[in-house]
Amino acid sequence: MRRNWMREWYLAAGVIVGLVAPWPAGAQKPADFFRQNCMSCHTIGGGRITGPDLKGVTQRKDAAWLEKFVQNPKAAIDGGDAYAVQLQQEARGVIMPTIPGMNAEMAKAMIAFLDAESKLAKSQFAGGAISDRPLTAVDLALGRELFYGTKKLANGGPACVNCHTMGTVGGLGGGRLGPDLTLVYARLGGRKAVGAWLVAPATPTMQSVFRGAALQPEEILPLLAMVEDAARQGPAANQSSLVKFFVAGFGGLTLGLVLLGAAWRGRFKAVRRPLVHGGMRGEE
Ligand code: HEC
Ligand code: HEC
Repeated sequence: MRRNWMREWYLAAGVIVGLVAPWPAGAQKPADFFRQNCMSCHTIGGGRITGPDLKGVTQRKDAAWLEKFVQNPKAAIDGGDAYAVQLQQEARGVIMPTIPGMNAEMAKAMIAFLDAESKLAKSQFAGGAISDRPLTAVDLALGRELFYGTKKLANGGPACVNCHTMGTVGGLGGGRLGPDLTLVYARLGGRKAVGAWLVAPATPTMQSVFRGAALQPEEILPLLAMVEDAARQGPAANQSSLVKFFVAGFGGLTLGLVLLGAAWRGRFKAVRRPLVHGGMRGEE
């Protein structure tokens, strides 16, 4: 039991350190930087996943614009730049996050790298890391175990339920630090997109947690099976767990009030009795 608590603490500390002190990107090569920070949302010649296919991106927009964009995507979209807004619409509203370590120097190297990689017959980032074989009931069962942590993740990562819930998670649901995953396919753009995303998550919390504990393809497929199942059962399942949450909330509140009442009644008696039995007996 104590060991578990220690793990939670280390995890929390790790997340905080990861968020507060992004690792220096200094001398990193664009290919490595791309693998760690971009591959989860982009292929180069493998089609759209969460973000657009970056093959030929330097033909679509000039280098100066792209360098500025990758350093602060949200600013470009909020600024109303027509091309950026169109990109965001094509991405179903997802906004590319600002990537820690993406400074002017890396942006320049990165756009040059994308240009060079686009000219190859086949880029090393053409995608296809996660198999598209049909998912089965066996996958779903394993996915549940991995999500809840009854089966440990191969590289020691923390169970998803610590931070995520989805419609099919009963009881009080999972953690609330991360988003509800019920409709994540619709959000990120389908199985291929979410699969690629999980190979190398590039958002702040997920990256700091899984950078040193990458999910294996044999783990990602079962987890996707669980997501698909939750999406199939839809918001209805979600609502019923919300109802359960409130019922449990009210139950807990009532129980708490009853216990408090009992405790206070005892206290009142303890104070009142000596008073009553002391001087005011006549009034009783
Ligand atoms: C969480 C997903 C995500 C990550 C991670 C991500 N991007 Fe993006 N990227 C997007 C989306 C989505 C768009 C489309 C614009 C928008 O909606 O913000 C985009 C757009 C772009 C564009 C413009 C594409 C075009 O067709 O003109 C470039 C260039 C780009 N990203 C490069 C990168 C690089 C380099 C990295 C890594 C350092 C990266 N992205 C990481 C999601 C992501
Ligand atoms: C320590 C908490 C934590 C754990 C453990 C965790 N996540 Fe996350 N996850 C987050 C947070 C927070 C986000 C929001 C983006 C970010 O900040 O990284 C997120 C985002 C995601 C997303 C993108 C959702 C979206 O709508 O954009 C997916 C998919 C995801 N997590 C899947 C998983 C899976 C699968 C596991 C288990 C293998 C897992 N996460 C474990 C905290 C966690």
